[in-house]
Amino acid sequence: MGSYLVCVTGASGSVYGLRVLSALSAGGHEVHALFSAWGARVTLAETGEGAASWLDRAGIPASRRHDPADLSAAVASGSFHLDGTVVAPCSMSTLGAVASGAGANLVHRVCAVALKEGRPLVLVPRETPLSLIDLRNMSSLAEAGASIMPASPGFYHRPATVDELVDFMAGKILDRLGVAHSLCARWDGAPTGDARPGDHHGEPS
Ligand SMILES: Cc1cc2nc3c(=O)[nH]c(=O)nc-3n(C[C@H](O)[C@H](O)[C@H](O)COP(=O)(O)O)c2cc1C
Repeated sequence: MGSYLVCVTGASGSVYGLRVLSALSAGGHEVHALFSAWGARVTLAETGEGAASWLDRAGIPASRRHDPADLSAAVASGSFHLDGTVVAPCSMSTLGAVASGAGANLVHRVCAVALKEGRPLVLVPRETPLSLIDLRNMSSLAEAGASIMPASPGFYHRPATVDELVDFMAGKILDRLGVAHSLCARWDGAPTGDARPGDHHGEPS
């Protein structure tokens, strides 16, 4: 089992981070959670439920819930072992702070630490349209070693619900971390007739 840190910032799409968090926890991994101040506010606005309630449901203990203002948290240090850090969704503001190296809160710090330690860092930006500054920030971060995974779920699996779209994106993020999951069916050749990918071969592979 691995140890992962999932950060939720104030971009739209808090459900992506929440789904990754709950899937990792359900899979028996050690999960640390960190909401920026705006991440918590947007989570409440989008889901009608506060961050604490989501973390209770995912079974994240208080000792693994981190305060974005607390730069002395254990996860702020490179000596704290993590197998991966995810920021989903990642606001343009957080993206810019990390790209510039001028971080001000714990989300920025844990991203900087992942990059300096050469550990997996998955950023899930969500904004449209993107300014040239946003694009340059993403390019800088990709050069520095981050995985940039825009919150853009595919439709080739013929999703019937919003949940399936969220699972698709969460599954892609877990794939990038090398974490096994069964959140979504994998593309297994073009489906025929009414079948959806995965349907014609039984269980998703
Ligand atoms: C309802 C709502 C939706 C937002 N959606 C986005 C978004 O999709 N992308 C983005 O970059 N910022 C978005 N913002 C703005 C960010 O919350 C704002 O830039 C904030 O400073 C981000 O801070 P953080 O990165 O520390 O969480 C949104 C704000 C609100 C209130």
